[in-house]
Amino acid sequence: MSSLPSIEFAPLDAAAAEVVVIFAGEDGKVAETLAEPIRKLVEKAAKIAKFKGKSLSTLDLVAPADVAADRLIVVGTHAKEPATGEDWLKLGGLIASKTKGGEGASVRCQSPEGEALSPEIAALLATGALLRSYDFDRYKTQGAKKDDEETKPESPGSITLLVGDVEAARRAFAIEEAVAKGTMLARDLVNEPANTLGPVEYAERIQELSAEGIDVEVLGESELRALKMNALLGVSQGSPRPPRLVIMRWNGGADDEAPVAFVGKGVVFDTGGISIKPAGSMDEMKGDMGGSAAVVGLMRALAGRKAKVNAIGIVGLVENAVDGNAQRPGDIVTAMSGTTIEVLNTDAEGRLVLADALWYCQERFKPKFMVNLATLTGAIIVALGNHHAGLFSNNDELAERLLSAGKTSGEKVWRMPLGPEYDKMIEGKFADIKNIGGGRAAGSITAAQFLQRFVNDVPWAHLDIAGTAMGSPSNEYNQSWASGFGVRLLNQLVVDHYQAA
Ligand code: BES
Ligand code: MN
Ligand code: ZN
Repeated sequence: MSSLPSIEFAPLDAAAAEVVVIFAGEDGKVAETLAEPIRKLVEKAAKIAKFKGKSLSTLDLVAPADVAADRLIVVGTHAKEPATGEDWLKLGGLIASKTKGGEGASVRCQSPEGEALSPEIAALLATGALLRSYDFDRYKTQGAKKDDEETKPESPGSITLLVGDVEAARRAFAIEEAVAKGTMLARDLVNEPANTLGPVEYAERIQELSAEGIDVEVLGESELRALKMNALLGVSQGSPRPPRLVIMRWNGGADDEAPVAFVGKGVVFDTGGISIKPAGSMDEMKGDMGGSAAVVGLMRALAGRKAKVNAIGIVGLVENAVDGNAQRPGDIVTAMSGTTIEVLNTDAEGRLVLADALWYCQERFKPKFMVNLATLTGAIIVALGNHHAGLFSNNDELAERLLSAGKTSGEKVWRMPLGPEYDKMIEGKFADIKNIGGGRAAGSITAAQFLQRFVNDVPWAHLDIAGTAMGSPSNEYNQSWASGFGVRLLNQLVVDHYQAA
């Protein structure tokens, strides 16, 4: 795929490279330990340019003749509050963007006070640079690339971070790199169009993860029928491409430890079915498998960093298409749980897929909790825009933990309500429940209430990522349409609370 920079770590006194990045603190202050001519130059330039070291501001300088570098880039790190993990990712991303196209950049990883930054921070900087350099370019042919040379994000050849403890930084980066690879896998899957990523191809891609030590089990149509997953099957029946349910298992914890479980909506394309969607922006519905991509990316991250946790990932892969056999509005299906559902709108299909996947998950694996992710409703974009995912939960502790992991990782969530008043809105007329709430009111909440009917009181959280998985504004460490949202959030949840030391 895109060319990613190679990341290296070297001791603080290593030889300089083409570009030297220097961190500045308040009022553009740089480390006293910097070589005298460089420090003098930076101080003078900062004064002239009124550079105050504001977080993520930069000052570009040509290096003096007697310094073994071409450019000096001063980057502001000054922040009123202590920096979060995400702040360091942003800084790393900024460094990658500032040094792109070069042969190599040497980053002087030293605080303005002159202390070497911790291995963890160095690792986050490197990760930010990696994530920033991600570019989904597999369908750009050579010619197109040439025309586009100016604008195409281009990664620096290599970034060398100068740190106090090289070995410790390498170890810390190995962990963060595994998580970044999970994020980039999720981005790849979401960016991939539906003609090349149907349920069958998708399941095959997931099967490749067995090389990482993940157990992968793929259920086909007849097995889903035997399990009575009629809610999921009803969505799939309008497509010539058969459905798949994929179960991933990472067993990094103790044998007798109950697993944590993650469940994802994997609608490879959502036409809306017979309740068809308008043409405008329908192409974006290739990303309607973003929840499943986050689960797949997370499993890869956990396996890649050999997390000491038992984790289950389950994804329901279907295409919501329209042919003569497609499910009709008014059809009644019986889900695996036995609950009957009136399908009043075939475009409210994600909840039908998740209903069976969630029920199956709790019944088979008896997990500590289930977190599901789904690009479930347009209404969550109306409510929260692109900067928070909607969080719905039947368990305050799990909700708090997700909110906190969101703050650390920068993949932010905002808690939304559930309650009997909303549950009433999905009572069915001819069956137990209906798949829409009626009218536009509380569209994201009624969707969540629907899911809650299938969790059997297991601690559960639903993340509606319709606004954050794709098409969200690009930032310092993401320039891709697909963000990979959810991988770092849920990895952080596991790091904070569910893995053995
Ligand atoms: N996949 C869509 C939700 C969506 C919309 C995701 C925009 C990303 C961007 C989902 O299947 C859907 O169509 N939901 C309907 C529900 C409605 C019919 C009750 C919606 O949000 O309009
Ligand atoms: Mn839909
Ligand atoms: Zn959908």
